Amino acid sequence: MLKLNNISVTFQSHGQVVHAVQHVTLHVKRGEIYGIIGSSGAGKSTLIRTVNLLERPESGEVIVRGTDISHLNGLELRKARQKIGMIFQHFNLIGSKTVHDNIALPLRAAGVSEDEIRVRVPELLSVVELTDKEFAYPGQLSGGQKQRVGIARALANNPDILLGDEPTSALDLETTESILKLLADINQRLGVTILLITHEMQVVKKICHRVAVMQGGEIVEENEVYELFSNPQHPLTQELVAKSLDLTLPKRVAETVQGDIIRLVYLGDNAERGVLSDTLRAHRVQINILHGHIEYINDKPIGILIISLVGDPVQIENATEHLKGQVAKLEVIRHG
Ligand SMILES: Nc1ncnc2c1ncn2[C@@H]1O[C@H](COP(=O)(O)OP(=O)(O)OP(=O)(O)O)[C@@H](O)[C@H]1O
Ligand SMILES: [Mg+2]
Repeated sequence: MLKLNNISVTFQSHGQVVHAVQHVTLHVKRGEIYGIIGSSGAGKSTLIRTVNLLERPESGEVIVRGTDISHLNGLELRKARQKIGMIFQHFNLIGSKTVHDNIALPLRAAGVSEDEIRVRVPELLSVVELTDKEFAYPGQLSGGQKQRVGIARALANNPDILLGDEPTSALDLETTESILKLLADINQRLGVTILLITHEMQVVKKICHRVAVMQGGEIVEENEVYELFSNPQHPLTQELVAKSLDLTLPKRVAETVQGDIIRLVYLGDNAERGVLSDTLRAHRVQINILHGHIEYINDKPIGILIISLVGDPVQIENATEHLKGQVAKLEVIRHG
């Protein structure tokens, strides 16, 4: 659907050269939600802007539906852009125009007749569940409602690709959830391929199918979301995953609990299997669950448990070995 081949973008700023994007190659498949995550200044916005040529790459190809669009100009470029919708962190609505006119803007630019626009705008508002706000002004809307207008506007010309540059960063947690749900719904129901930039692993976890991690203008890791969470390779990815799956034991608990304290990560089928009961049957130890949760990413579980093992040191050692064989990762946080 969308291929970026060896894309590089360089800026000159105050006599300094900034290599914002360096040799990035990625392939977004038709119908998927693809995330790009990275810290500030990693080059994410610059990269996503090359997809609709808001930023022209200095080298490389932008191949959309099989055609390299990176050298298009004028009318051809405008036509190509109409099929690539974009939503923004700060919505980019025109404050002096009603919701109706904001959404009509790309339709008018595409030469759609006023009669059709009168039909199309309410249709789009129904997709984003904002039917009653057609003649409101952006200033009268909440952040989440503004983003819904932004999404309706991006969908106006029936694009098959939707780009989102941090579309939920300006929103609170609850509104973020509802906008992500809407995007997942648009992906499912309308079959729109989505390329999404974020700096939040929660966003990736919630709706992306695959994800690339960006640092210093380069993609340092790419994987299916579940794989990335269960087996992160690059130090940056490991840090992002650790932060997002964080489970820390309150200090007072860690100090007063008896025995060895152990952190277990278990994946896939193991998460539902009786890892603990197997261990209890085979070894004479007491297991206390101190902390834990199971998350489902794309319907597959990742379980994290912090337990204490109490008993005879030899039995504890054997039980730990036994557990090691059953789980994806085992870390002894403290020996008792
Ligand atoms: N127009 C520009 N002129 C000069 N340098 C730029 C320009 N746009 C971006 N840069 C630089 O390119 C690098 C990448 O910027 P970019 O905005 O793509 O990062 P980002 O990953 O989107 O960051 P953030 O998470 O803060 O939005 C930064 O070092 C930035 O300062
Ligand atoms: Mg950015």
